Amino acid sequence: MDMTFHGVSSLRGQVEVPPDKSISHRAAILGALAEGETVARPFLRSGDCLSTLNCLRELGINWKLEDDALTIEGHGPEAFRQPHDVLDAGNSATTMRFLAGVLAGRSFESVITGDESLRTRPMGRIIEPLRRMGAEITGSEDGTKPPLRIKGGPLHGIEHLMEVDSAQVKSALMLAGLQADSETTIIGGRSSRDHTERMLLLMGAELSFGDDAITIKKSSLESREIAIPGDMSSASFLIAASVVIPGSRLLLKNVGLNPTRAGFLSVLNSMGALIIEANYQEMDNEPRGDLKVSGTQLSGIELEGWRVPAMIDEVPLLAVIGCMARGTTTVRGAGELRVKESDRIAAICTELRKMGARIDELPDGFSIQGPNKLRGTQVDSHGDHRIAMALAVAALCAEAETAISGWECVDISFPGFDQVLMSLQGM
Ligand code: S3P
Repeated sequence: MDMTFHGVSSLRGQVEVPPDKSISHRAAILGALAEGETVARPFLRSGDCLSTLNCLRELGINWKLEDDALTIEGHGPEAFRQPHDVLDAGNSATTMRFLAGVLAGRSFESVITGDESLRTRPMGRIIEPLRRMGAEITGSEDGTKPPLRIKGGPLHGIEHLMEVDSAQVKSALMLAGLQADSETTIIGGRSSRDHTERMLLLMGAELSFGDDAITIKKSSLESREIAIPGDMSSASFLIAASVVIPGSRLLLKNVGLNPTRAGFLSVLNSMGALIIEANYQEMDNEPRGDLKVSGTQLSGIELEGWRVPAMIDEVPLLAVIGCMARGTTTVRGAGELRVKESDRIAAICTELRKMGARIDELPDGFSIQGPNKLRGTQVDSHGDHRIAMALAVAALCAEAETAISGWECVDISFPGFDQVLMSLQGM
């Protein structure tokens, strides 16, 4: 499906972004592992989170999603049952990697697969350590791709040195570690998002932290009511559009401000953006607040690899901002983007070039000479929700009409994004 956008002179208004996708996945999975009834609200009703819920149902977990409240009945890990069918994680690597961690400790065999994009994504990073803990896991192709066949059983703890700074990998190991008979220590990975650690602590897991290490012991989890903040990654598209379109003024309410997710805000501030935080508070171990954003002329930035994990999903969007900023914007150390829902470095460079951007693709990032005058044209989402929405932001800054093909992938994380954008124009 194509979606068309025109350049706009400003974005104005107040908006509440959808609930956090990462925290929604975690609430569902940790709620299923806990003892008792977990109520998580507002739960994100999007493609990825529904993939997690459907897999949990296949695994014998009862839940109901009424309005925006997820109620999940947990009876501990022992309540997971062998599925009758292949589990389908859809487009969601979070679903696959997290469930692999859970299933590694369950003494039945299951197979988990996903859509065409997910079946290309690297799983060796979880297969190797979960095997060392005692699970039998086989992948496809070279042994590292989905579908994964998992035969779980009694696990023992391991020490694991993280090769990539990935929240999904460390979470998979913590979920296996919860079920292991000795402690599991994960070294590295502390700068990737820490929602799992925060929620595990909230639910009473035995977790301790060293300088660059996390140690988890076998623990049972207590069910909780969990209030989920707005998703910083979804907010980022609206923030990006407002900072680069002069005359914009936007108030975003109740956005998650977890420091491991808010890297994009500090990068924008370094580029000269006008973003003010208000009503900061912490609920259920997660910080949140309101953001007031105004449009202004930004300057380019050199982004180094250490800043990438706290804004991993926002890096393609930074390419769009770089197009509008004065001077050079260069990103390096973001090679992980090549193994996301699409090769996000290649995808964003190719599509922005079609719109007239002076952008060079680097092995682990990109470099842009700004400012650019973007021209609307036909571009492609590459079936990737974050690329589709980043291109919509570019389209709002461009002359003439832009048509984005494969728009339906936006439902993975931000259903109704186009209507929200529409409602903020010309107010
Ligand atoms: C996620 C972690 C990130 C991110 C993904 C969601 C999570 O992936 O890109 O959209 O919920 O833990 P990696 O951990 O592989 O970097």
